[in-house]
Order: sequence, then C-alpha cells, then structure tokens
Amino acid sequence: MPTLNLAPAGAEDYRRQAERNLPRSLFDYIDGGASAEHTLRANVAELQSIALRQRVLRDVSAIDTSTDLLDQRWAMPLALAPIGMAGMMARRAEVQAARAAHALGVPFCLSTVSICSLEEVARATPTPPWFQLYVMRDRGAVADLIARAQAVGVTTLVVTVDLAVVGARYRDIRNGMGGGLGAWGRFRGTLGSYLLHPGWLAQVGIGGKPHTFGNLSAYVPKATTPADFKSWIDSQFDPAVTWTDIEAFRAQWPGKLVVKGLLDAEDARAAVAAGADAVVVSNHGGRQLDGALASARALPRIVDALAGRTTVLVDGGVRTGQDIARMRALGADATLIGRPWVWAVAAGGEPAVKRLLGLLQAELRTVQALTACPRNADLGPEIIDRA
Ligand code: GLV
Repeated sequence: MPTLNLAPAGAEDYRRQAERNLPRSLFDYIDGGASAEHTLRANVAELQSIALRQRVLRDVSAIDTSTDLLDQRWAMPLALAPIGMAGMMARRAEVQAARAAHALGVPFCLSTVSICSLEEVARATPTPPWFQLYVMRDRGAVADLIARAQAVGVTTLVVTVDLAVVGARYRDIRNGMGGGLGAWGRFRGTLGSYLLHPGWLAQVGIGGKPHTFGNLSAYVPKATTPADFKSWIDSQFDPAVTWTDIEAFRAQWPGKLVVKGLLDAEDARAAVAAGADAVVVSNHGGRQLDGALASARALPRIVDALAGRTTVLVDGGVRTGQDIARMRALGADATLIGRPWVWAVAAGGEPAVKRLLGLLQAELRTVQALTACPRNADLGPEIIDRA
C-alpha cells in the first residue's frame, strides 16, 4: 500500500493517492502507455535530465508567471490536456477540472470522448473550454460536434492527428479491456475490482452517473456505459485522414485551430501550410507509437523548423514547475499536462486540481526567481546549463 502524504506537494503525490482510490483497470488506463512504455518513461526522464542554470543577485522581487497564448492572457503557460473518460476517475471530473482551471486562470481542453458533454462543461464555468476533436469516420457527427462547440462559445478547436490507429496498450490488454476474458476474468476486472474500492463505487460508479460519453450519445443512442461506446468509437478511428481534412476544418472553423500530435518538423510545416494557428508537439503521452521521440527532444527541431511562424505547445512528461520552465526554454510557448490533473481529480476532485495548479505555479515562480527570469517571457535557452 503506498504511503500517503497529509498535504500533497505535487503531481507524484496525487498519483499515489489516485492509485489507491481507483479500480486497477481505470488507474492503469490513465497511468499506462503504449507497448513497453519506453516513450512514456523517456518523456519524463529526458525532460528531467535538462539542467537548469542558477543565477543570483539579480533583483527578482517581482515575479510574473503570466503569458499570452492564442490572443488571451493566462496565469501561466499551462493548459489541461484533453483526456478521454476522465469522468470515470472522479464524479463529473471534467466539470470539476474545468472549474479548477477557470479559478487558476488556465485553459481546460475537453476531449471528444469525455464523460461530461460540451454543454454540461460550458454550463458549469464562465469560460467555455477548448474542444479536442477526433476526425471520426462519421463526418456528419464531426460537423455536428463542431457546430455544438461553436454554439457553447468554444474559441479553440484542437484536432488530434496521432490516432489514425490506437496504440497497443499492454496494461489495458492485461486488464481485459481488449476483451477475450472469460466470466471470472471479467468479474475480477470490473465488479470485483470495484468492490475493493467502495469510495470510488459510491462516488463515481453510482454517484457519477450517467457514464455515457456525453458528446457522442446523440450519435450512439442505445449506448449507456463506456463499454457500449467502445465498439462504436473503435470503428470510428479513421486511418484515411489526411491534411485535406485539416484544410477543411480550417475553412469551417472561425476560431483558433490547433493541430495536436506532431513530432516531425516536416509535419509541423504541413500543419502551418494547412492553416493551423498552433501545433502541439506530442507523442500522446507515450500512448501511441512506443519508441517515438520524447517530446523534449522533438520540440527544439519543430521550434527551429517553424521559426516563429506559429504558436508551439507541447505535452509529455511535464510534472513540475521546473518542467514547465524547461519546455519554455526549449522554445514552447506553453505546455499541457494530462496525467497530473487526472491523478489530482481522482485523488480529491476540484480542490485537488486547484491545489495542484497552485503548486505548479508556485514552483514555476521559484524557478523564474532562481534563474533570474522575472517575467515568464524571459525564460529562454539561456536558463539551460549545457556544460
Ligand atoms: C485516447 O486518446 C487515449 O490515449 O486513450
């Protein structure tokens, strides 16, 4: 049993609490990556290996972490990444996280395959979420989702492009999420594991209903559980998507268009040519192509290739304020965090996500002070110690 802390100090503490609270298959779905998880580990390890250059005696009495991103001012260069099924990890988790993001002044991006719908999240917060879109085979459903996003005031559409097929997730396979289990295995994987987590069962399993995929229920009317949606969703990933689809979104979408899931400089240039306002350098948190480059290593090449022509976001391995600063130093305008916010919401709901964001901002402030970068915009390649 993991030891718990009275007052969590950061993402890793929330991870331990989430592991305790969640049925195994749900924790593994969030925590795990593709295949042997080399890229997942490399995202964290390569980022952490970047040494920061400490500077002293530079008057850092006024520190400002705020930043401009996609024509808005935010409290820090951080956004909550889109996560599928987050609402299975805590009661109406997407609403809780969106409220926390609003309170701390950072963007929240809602996943296509969220439990709470666009409408539910938009009703619950004064600022509409960003919306992440998969290019599904049912282009009618895609067009409808775009119209719904516009109707609730979404300004930023994030199109995920690295899911033409789904990565092989060993943990999910072992937990029977890919099917193929007998009756006893299915019992152990679901009900048996839920009974070992009575808190989750009461608050989320029963208290967090409905467990439909809120954005998709109109298109799959008979589905009532995530498992019912799975076969529809699995049949919807479209391996035939191309840049022409991105150009079509550009023509339809009047707001900001973000292309998420790039690791290659040539692909990043193609995204700009297709009209993207921003790209997200990402290997999907190590959940897709195991063996792909760690985000911190892919980022500088893309920053170089784009030479300031578009906004560059990045995710993968960001766990601390130091990591946010490191990604800024490598040229990112801002970072996204995925697992950390889901660990926090699973550990303690909206208050925990607020606390995590506050801790990250405080840590970022400390890094800016000790690297002599009073304004967030001062964080650049000079803060990396390459000796
Ligand atoms: C879906 O985006 C997943 O990574 O599971």
